[in-house]
Amino acid sequence: MSKISLKNINKKYPNSDTYSVRDFNIDIEDGEFIVLVGPSGCGKSTTLRMIAGLEDITEGEFIIDGQVVNNVSSKDRDIAMVFQSYALYPHMSVRDNVGYGLKLRHFPANDIKDRVDNIAKDLFLTEYLERKPKELSGGQRQRVALGRAMVRTPKLYLMDEPLSNLDAKLRATTRTEISRMHREKGAITIYVTHDQVEAMTMADRIVLMSMGEIQQIGTPKELFENPKNCFVATFMGMPSMNLIKGQYEGGQFTCESFTIAVSESDRAILDAAGYNGKSLLLGARSSAIRSGKKYEQAFPDCCFETTVMNSEYLGDCVNVFFNAAPRNLFIGTLGSGEPSVEIDDKITLVIDNNQLHFFDADTEESIKFVSKQASMSA
Ligand SMILES: Nc1ncnc2c1ncn2[C@@H]1O[C@H](COP(=O)(O)OP(=O)(O)O)[C@@H](O)[C@H]1O
Ligand SMILES: [Mg+2]
Repeated sequence: MSKISLKNINKKYPNSDTYSVRDFNIDIEDGEFIVLVGPSGCGKSTTLRMIAGLEDITEGEFIIDGQVVNNVSSKDRDIAMVFQSYALYPHMSVRDNVGYGLKLRHFPANDIKDRVDNIAKDLFLTEYLERKPKELSGGQRQRVALGRAMVRTPKLYLMDEPLSNLDAKLRATTRTEISRMHREKGAITIYVTHDQVEAMTMADRIVLMSMGEIQQIGTPKELFENPKNCFVATFMGMPSMNLIKGQYEGGQFTCESFTIAVSESDRAILDAAGYNGKSLLLGARSSAIRSGKKYEQAFPDCCFETTVMNSEYLGDCVNVFFNAAPRNLFIGTLGSGEPSVEIDDKITLVIDNNQLHFFDADTEESIKFVSKQASMSA
């Protein structure tokens, strides 16, 4: 059983005058799979390297099982790491690379062989076990690095973009393998990626960072359905959520190109929060913007005419791009059974007003998130 906590962690590199990580706080329970996600430069690797003991913690405490371990050396923290730049021993075979950590820890030879054989099977490496790293592709080498970490069960696995060198298909299968191995071993895993799909598919909880600070911590569902601010709303989900600036008044939202009715429940929240007569940002995922008679009948006061600026055929659906404000392109996703569209077509689009988000135009904080927090703590 392990439990780890990061308390008020800050990081300032000696040669830098700004903080790379600010006020990072989280408690992680035994067996959790935590994904640190965010754009390049937001402080993910820095945070992971502090947990690994490869970077000093400038301020704050890192606690494993009740013990502050800020000054415990990396090798005494009982962690296994995989980094984007996998350093394999070039003169050793794949088998010896994967088994090396076990050999150092004096595991019996037949035990090492069994463990290496098993992990090789999981990572599709069986036929390469006798090769040297230089005889492997980048993707195969990266899987050897994963195998080397996952062949033993430490207190903590740390992974920094371990799938970035794999092609899309292998990334998806290896992702599933990592999740499965994690469930089997049950050790806490902290996984860094810039890819929101990896975060959504693998995490028990996601920590979304921007510019050194945590934006939101929660399950994939919590971040997707109840984003705390515009940054979280647009980072999670593909295509990115549409944000449309407009005016809220008398239960209606009006932007340059359309007026739609706000749902009863959203109206109650917006009115209670004092937004009547104010400008705000409407957030609508493309999946909430549809077309066709079925939607027009279901949401008669949420329809508007527009011109198709572009369309992307994706097989099971089509993304349509339209202007809802000058120079701003928005996107809807039409499923099968909805009208087919061509560029320059005039179409009627329908917004499903049961699936909308609203953000304060100045702070970009979600109005529904704030209201939900308040009702939970009441
Ligand atoms: N060794 C270093 N010295 C000074 N600044 C650094 C160092 N490593 C990273 N940084 C800075 O810290 C910030 C966070 O970097 P990093 O943690 O690598 O981001 P991420 O992994 O999210 O892409 C960046 O602004 C980066 O330039
Ligand atoms: Mg990084």
